[in-house]
Amino acid sequence: MELRRAALSFTNTALAPFSSLPNPSLSGRDGKRWRVVCSNSTKPSQGSQMVVSITGATGFISQRLVQKLLADDHKVRVLTRSRAKARLVFPAEKFPEILIAEEEEWEKCIQGSNGVVNLAGMPISTRWSSEIKKEIKKSRINVTSKIVGSINRTNPDFRPSVLVSATAIGYYGTSETHSFDETSPSGNDYLSEVCREWEARASEVDNNVRLVLIRIGIVLGKDGGALAKMIPLFMMFAGGPLGSGRQWCN
Ligand SMILES: NC(=O)c1ccc[n+]([C@@H]2O[C@H](COP(=O)([O-])OP(=O)(O)OC[C@H]3O[C@@H](n4cnc5c(N)ncnc54)[C@H](OP(=O)(O)O)[C@@H]3O)[C@@H](O)[C@H]2O)c1
Repeated sequence: MELRRAALSFTNTALAPFSSLPNPSLSGRDGKRWRVVCSNSTKPSQGSQMVVSITGATGFISQRLVQKLLADDHKVRVLTRSRAKARLVFPAEKFPEILIAEEEEWEKCIQGSNGVVNLAGMPISTRWSSEIKKEIKKSRINVTSKIVGSINRTNPDFRPSVLVSATAIGYYGTSETHSFDETSPSGNDYLSEVCREWEARASEVDNNVRLVLIRIGIVLGKDGGALAKMIPLFMMFAGGPLGSGRQWCN
């Protein structure tokens, strides 16, 4: 399978209009309750503004992506398991333009989106019992299957033209001596297996949808991810060099 490179930005797709209807399940800033309904009757149109549906949008990486897309004047649909949690991350006062959808509404949101970005998955930085390992894999495969199914069921006129789906450099396994590139084979450890199955699900997307698999490396930022977990240890003088410090030096 060919790995296609991706930047987390879209340049060649267009705007599909957003629509909102009154609804009893969501409070507006004025105290009225609203339900946001994703329109499935509007085609993604040609233009510079896009509608992007994002799973895992409440996560460490995606929060930045959402902010970047909004700053570039695109429309964002947050596909989440919990509207309440997503509203905490994206408060209506600060992000009035974001549309938040729980699982039963994902498919409608995907219809009429120009692109879908799939960044959901249970965090892996935890103790790996056999149960947790199953959950880590299942969380990625289930969400990916769900959005791929939704995209494939969508009438081609309303279908997103691109699916950007996360995977990880874990695909390659590990080595203290070899370096890897996109042509390298997959490894033979647990994370390699997760990534292969994750990518395989994404690859089931309709052939007319451009698939971009991003094998993400360790993302460092003080607000989350691996670094935020490490900083407190270093603050307590319990940190130290990682390995020999000469990994992958030839
Ligand atoms: N951060 C890194 O260094 C790194 C490196 C390589 C690959 N990646 C991959 O890139 C993606 C995004 O990473 P991230 O660090 O931003 O992730 P994250 O902060 O842990 O958040 C990902 C999002 O996934 C959803 N999620 C969490 N548990 C889930 C579960 N059990 N089932 C379904 N959805 C679940 C949550 O969204 P809702 O609660 O809103 O549904 C969460 O906000 C992940 O798939 C990760 O494996 C990350």
